[in-house]
Amino acid sequence: MIRAYRGDIVYSADKDELRVFDDSYIIVKAGKVLEITKKLPQEYKNLEIIDHSGKMIIPAFSDMHLHASQYYQRGVGMDRLLLDWLNDYTFPQESRFEDMGYAERAYDLFTEDLINHGTLHASIFTTIHYEASDYLFNLLERKGLYAYVGKLNMNQNCPPSLRENTKDSILDTERFILEHQGGKTVSPIITPRFAISCTEELIQGLGSLVKRYKVPVQTHLCESEEEMRTVSTLFPEYSYDSEIYLKYGLIGNSLSLMAHCIYLDEKDIKVLNSHGGVAVHCPDSNINVTAGLMPSASLADTGMNLTLGSDIGGGHDIPIYRAVARAVQVSKIRVQLGLDQRKLSLTEAFYFATRAGGECFGEMGAFDQGYHFNALVIDDERFRGLEIGISDRLERFCYIGDDRNIIARYVDGKLLD
Ligand code: GUN
Ligand code: FE
Repeated sequence: MIRAYRGDIVYSADKDELRVFDDSYIIVKAGKVLEITKKLPQEYKNLEIIDHSGKMIIPAFSDMHLHASQYYQRGVGMDRLLLDWLNDYTFPQESRFEDMGYAERAYDLFTEDLINHGTLHASIFTTIHYEASDYLFNLLERKGLYAYVGKLNMNQNCPPSLRENTKDSILDTERFILEHQGGKTVSPIITPRFAISCTEELIQGLGSLVKRYKVPVQTHLCESEEEMRTVSTLFPEYSYDSEIYLKYGLIGNSLSLMAHCIYLDEKDIKVLNSHGGVAVHCPDSNINVTAGLMPSASLADTGMNLTLGSDIGGGHDIPIYRAVARAVQVSKIRVQLGLDQRKLSLTEAFYFATRAGGECFGEMGAFDQGYHFNALVIDDERFRGLEIGISDRLERFCYIGDDRNIIARYVDGKLLD
């Protein structure tokens, strides 16, 4: 089945280059991009044309770090520092996911809103609860989103209702992998919460699963100074924070998504860069729990792979297009404070939110030949009044657009309803 989508097409060629195609056609065969052309070639004369002219066609967004179980608590407890916020708000909230009725209501709403806001690729933390995690996995698969879903691991420094027995935590994770590997669009991901929540024995056991099943990993790394002080008390024999993950194979054997990375040591930077680690910048969350300001531009200049995350519920809102704007804003504050030499460009931040995130799932997040046609159609007519080009319209959507502007969402060429 070949279709042509007409509109103002824009996507990231790489970190520093947007490709912009004014009033053009994107030709899609069996859900993948064949080519982008200004005029329809003769051979395509009879194909079905979906006319979005005047609208922007952009790649679907990728949220590379968020907690589905924290969706109800967004915008609450925002006066707390990270560790107090976890204890006072997040752990009580996560305890409720033992109740499947509660979990289903929360995950249904979460998924609906994720899709509404154009996040069609996501790497998601759930809670320690198997059944609720299984429910979210199947729901996302049914909806056709591309996602990693990680049943969380946690066996210390948390309330008894959330404290896993080490052996059971590893066994449950293995079962989660075995029961969900080979999903069409959703895959399991190993998810130790952060070093404070996990004993060395647990991290070691999870590392064995990574090596055995070649599954990706996600966790939090170097998020706040208080967190890092606690980590060095708990793990005094390690000299930098990623060392324990490197030692047990949670870095270096598969995709590793490291959320926050605000206070990386030189050695962390070397480890991540030499093993293809991916740092997930979550600017709203970092501000809300007073964690800090990520040195995103400086890290990007070391060659680090950067992506964006909403980090719901540390982050208060789900739109990744807004994280694009916030990442640029935070980078400007760092320059003003003399902490960085340069700011991020919108082009870079948009690349993090689309192509860099999408490529963690395969050929997604861009419209090169062979890439999945996972796309959004943006109608920005209600902002009319300025005569501006497509890249300026893209920036404006990131700053002031919302789900009302997203009038169609495609995954593998299929319109989502
Ligand atoms: N560190 C450990 N757990 C969490 C969490 O749920 N959210 C954030 N932002 N940081 C964490
Ligand atoms: Fe988080």
